[in-house]
Amino acid sequence: MNNKKSVDIIRDAVFSSSIFKEGGEKTLNQSYIPNELKFREDNIRRISQNFRPLFLSENRGIEGFSTNIALTGPAGVGKTVTARYTVDHLQVMAERHHIKLYTDYKNCWTTRTKTSILRSFLRDQFGVASRGFSDEESTDILIRRLNSEQAYLVLILDEVSVLPQKDIRGFIHLPEEFGAEHRISIIMISRPTEWKVTLSSMVSQRIADVIQFQPYTLEETRKILDYRAHLAFKTTALSEDILEMVAEISDQTKNLRHGIEILYRTGRAADQQRLDELTPELVRRAKNDVFPELRADILEELKTHELFAALSIARRLHHKGITATTIEHSFKNYRIICEEWGLRPNAEAAFRNYLSTLEAIGILGKVTKGVKGRKGVRARLTIHDVPAAVLIERIEVFLSKRFQKS
Ligand SMILES: Nc1ncnc2c1ncn2[C@@H]1O[C@H](COP(=O)(O)OP(=O)(O)OP(=O)(O)O)[C@@H](O)[C@H]1O
Ligand SMILES: [Mg+2]
Repeated sequence: MNNKKSVDIIRDAVFSSSIFKEGGEKTLNQSYIPNELKFREDNIRRISQNFRPLFLSENRGIEGFSTNIALTGPAGVGKTVTARYTVDHLQVMAERHHIKLYTDYKNCWTTRTKTSILRSFLRDQFGVASRGFSDEESTDILIRRLNSEQAYLVLILDEVSVLPQKDIRGFIHLPEEFGAEHRISIIMISRPTEWKVTLSSMVSQRIADVIQFQPYTLEETRKILDYRAHLAFKTTALSEDILEMVAEISDQTKNLRHGIEILYRTGRAADQQRLDELTPELVRRAKNDVFPELRADILEELKTHELFAALSIARRLHHKGITATTIEHSFKNYRIICEEWGLRPNAEAAFRNYLSTLEAIGILGKVTKGVKGRKGVRARLTIHDVPAAVLIERIEVFLSKRFQKS
């Protein structure tokens, strides 16, 4: 290939037309906060109401204010985006009312300790290099700074259950270190299982409000995806049918992130193939990519008894209102399933090994913290991101094929 041609290729790739609007691609990023959050008005209102005292005229930011609230709900229902959206707007409003409000968002998967969260806040907002400072020292700097500026801090801690328990307690008790004038508020976000199992008993007395997020309905999913698609794509790029298809897939899992990711991947693939429209085939392929934990080849790699084990948990979790189950319960289910398929069940020790495999490949989530029963601390089993119904369906179809072949 001569030099000119290679340059042409690059120019072409960079400047060729795209089905995304200019700047549209980034509106489908996880960190993008849209101007409008449909169907989350109640949640936005309720979060905001918790911060009313901050704006009361007699206070006007001069006295102390602090609150801790929690947001909980299943995957992909807008907890993160709603928290960030609301806090961003609270900050703008505070500015208008001459109240100094700092805000910060931390995902505890990325910043995993109280110390690192405090340090990065001090560095980013105040330019203080607190590396090497102890927790107490960092806290002290923060308190002095906020006090001297008569400023407040609202800190969003996303996926908070990842933090060590003592750090979570540390955050909850932070305001008290200010003496009379509290200045730090925390918004904790977590999934319901983690909330129930590890957090609620530990912090609930200090949480002013627990706000539940419910999954969107199909109709709502369709409208939100329509809005998001129009932010991202040129109007000619997608039809009603494609949107309907993506909305239905997203509705299957009740996880809006799947819908948004499918839009994103479908758009990228269309650009790569230089198509000027999203096609059903591209959507289907993108769909398989957004469930990596359920790719057919992963099921193929699993032994039949491991599939039974996955099924035993999925079936239990399929019951309404049950978000986690125990090993004992699943083992009973597993034996029933073995019977259904005419195989002899293996012992509980083997069953536990199947669970470990499922955990290692990411189908299963295990929450071991917290729940103390008669038998000591018991593991609680959950499934990751994939709804139980989808998992059941795919495993059963797969098992039928496997049994037919043999
Ligand atoms: N009402 C809405 N309007 C527009 N986009 C939304 C809305 N709700 C959620 N989204 C988008 O859907 C995706 C998933 O939302 P989000 O990340 O807030 O979910 P989550 O509840 O925090 O999930 P997880 O528990 O997995 O972290 C994001 O891309 C977000 O921007
Ligand atoms: Mg989130």
